[in-house]
Amino acid sequence: MAIYSDEEIRAFGLDRDALPKHIAIIMDGNGRWAKKRRLSRSAGHRAGVDRLRGIIRMSSDLEIASLTLYAFSTENWKRPSDEVSTLMALLIEYFTKEIDELFSNNVRIRIIGAYQDFASPVRSVIERAMKRTENNTGLNLNIALNYGSRAEILRAANLAMRQAVAEGKSEITAEMLEGNFYTAGQPEVDLVIRTSGEHRISNFLLYQISYAELLFPEEFWPDFSDEAYLSALRVYQSRSRRFGGLEGNA
Ligand code: IPE
Ligand code: IPE
Ligand code: MG
Repeated sequence: MAIYSDEEIRAFGLDRDALPKHIAIIMDGNGRWAKKRRLSRSAGHRAGVDRLRGIIRMSSDLEIASLTLYAFSTENWKRPSDEVSTLMALLIEYFTKEIDELFSNNVRIRIIGAYQDFASPVRSVIERAMKRTENNTGLNLNIALNYGSRAEILRAANLAMRQAVAEGKSEITAEMLEGNFYTAGQPEVDLVIRTSGEHRISNFLLYQISYAELLFPEEFWPDFSDEAYLSALRVYQSRSRRFGGLEGNA
């Protein structure tokens, strides 16, 4: 582990006390990155996976509490089956190769989304990764797989309703709803980054990003360097978050 010192953080142009607690990233643009280089979409996804290590490492070294990465949406099943299979194979390879380093960096891995729908090789490798890191106390790394926010909200509402019925109540509370999200217990999302210049949320954490700052850098995900990440954090720190109140009063 190499937690950055205050001095190093200042040298990045950042203020340690104002870093986001929870960053959510829509890793978009692998296909266009590959197309630009006349490569296959698979090559683009591989280049995208290669960027994970740096971004996770930097988040952990900056002592960010939670990082949520959108890796496969409930809508991504619409893609050709060979692309879906490539993504699954890359996932297995990623977890197999990276788990030791993630573990030694004290990262806790959680999968958010209906990963149970995946075939057993993917399921077992991710279950092993979650189990192995469950007592780690550093960065909470949430990987959104077969994730859709609408499905998450519906699932949480149903779970909360069952709880309410069991307790003889006729309404659910916000706490009950939030307590049944995959992200329960983690800080609210402060910052959403979507790479590749697209300006949309695509069914990602709709409830949790209610007051998040949104950034849409132009780089395709495989080109989103550590420096681009730091630059996004500087832009985040330049924003004035008011939460409905007045400047300086939040
Ligand atoms: C993001 O890159 C990765 C996934 C959705 C799995 P895309 O594959 O969406 O790349 P573009 O948007 O086609 O460039
Ligand atoms: C969002 O990207 C999902 C992930 C990055 C995993 P998409 O490329 O699937 O989103 P749309 O289709 O452009 O909205
Ligand atoms: Mg895309």
